[in-house]
Amino acid sequence: MTGFGNHVASEAVAGALPVGRNSPQKVPYGLYAEQLSGTAFTAPRAENRRSWLYRLRPAAQHRPFVPYEGAPLLRSGPFGEGRVSPNRLRWDPMPPPARPTDFVDGLTTYGGNGDVAAGAGCGIHLYAANRSMERRAFFSADGEMLILPRQGALRIVTELGVMVVAPLQMALIPRGVRFRVELDGPSHGYVCENYGALFRLPDLGPIGANGLANPRDFETPTAWFEDRDEPHEVIQKFQGALWATTLDHSPFDVVAWHGNLAPCRYDLRRFNTINTVSFDHPDPSIFTVLTSPSDTPGTANIDVVIFPPRWMVAEDTFRPPWFHRNVMSEFMGLIEGAYDAKEGGFAPGGASLHNCMNGHGPDKASYEKAVSADLKPHRLENTMAFMFESRHVIRPTRWAMDSDLLQSDYDEAWSGFEKAKLP
Ligand SMILES: [Fe+2]
Repeated sequence: MTGFGNHVASEAVAGALPVGRNSPQKVPYGLYAEQLSGTAFTAPRAENRRSWLYRLRPAAQHRPFVPYEGAPLLRSGPFGEGRVSPNRLRWDPMPPPARPTDFVDGLTTYGGNGDVAAGAGCGIHLYAANRSMERRAFFSADGEMLILPRQGALRIVTELGVMVVAPLQMALIPRGVRFRVELDGPSHGYVCENYGALFRLPDLGPIGANGLANPRDFETPTAWFEDRDEPHEVIQKFQGALWATTLDHSPFDVVAWHGNLAPCRYDLRRFNTINTVSFDHPDPSIFTVLTSPSDTPGTANIDVVIFPPRWMVAEDTFRPPWFHRNVMSEFMGLIEGAYDAKEGGFAPGGASLHNCMNGHGPDKASYEKAVSADLKPHRLENTMAFMFESRHVIRPTRWAMDSDLLQSDYDEAWSGFEKAKLP
């Protein structure tokens, strides 16, 4: 079903969806009606997100959750692991896991900001997995999960339907929605867990009614369920910690649902990339796919920004990203190819972090190339970098600071610039 945040309805069994009301006295087939609220009941209508689920058993039917000891490198806000380095940081790609590891246990937190309890900020994780989740489901009560596969297509089974999400696509799973991730081989990618206001399409202002990520390119699965009376582990992330319980049945038992709170996927190749046709490199906000606003207008909790293949035609312009010091903090990853501000060192699967007010920009090699380039129209091909940009400083985890993947020589990217010569 197409559209972002649309009100849709779907039933996997004909006649399962109540007509004309959400909670009739007797739901068809004896299904249990359950509302899933993604915003407060009283959120303004334009912001209000909720769905009604009709399932074989109520989600409330479970034994107590007990602490879960897996996913040893998953962390959560508040991120307070000591003194926060102001340095530019960059990491090499993670190696595949040495042992059988599924999506949940393979989550490693690189950093984050804000506070799950305060409902602001985000956690930034990478996953490396080589095994499908079997009779296991996961959900985050702390935030919605935006997943960007870099290697390996994911078959994501959710309570509301099934999505196959491959590299160059993204998945967005609402807070609380249970899902399991099935792999087709070694898998690696990036996750932004958004604790704040729900991701939405950015306003387009003078761009007009169309452009950037178009609403109809977001795809929501139709209802799908399984009727399996066998033990299933459900793991939840709640206030930063992991908890587990075991059901005697599959949690993926939603036979029908309707509403506007649902998982979706988006193909990054459908992004309508807009760029200058005169001069100057525009601010990267022109590449925003989704935004989680904060309470300060125009100052995002998180912007999700991509750098897709595109034409570079600017006249009399330094075409790569310029040197920059930013009040916002920037975490970047690379899905494929190379990023136009870095000639080396930033590999697919790697990551970089440029925090508030710390200078960054093109490395020396990219700079030299750009200032001597013949400014013909030029197409950047086979590239897909992304950025999570936040108003809050992204605090790296202890693991990220101590990791062998952290490059010790990243500052060298900006060494050797000659002093400008005045007349
Ligand atoms: Fe920047």
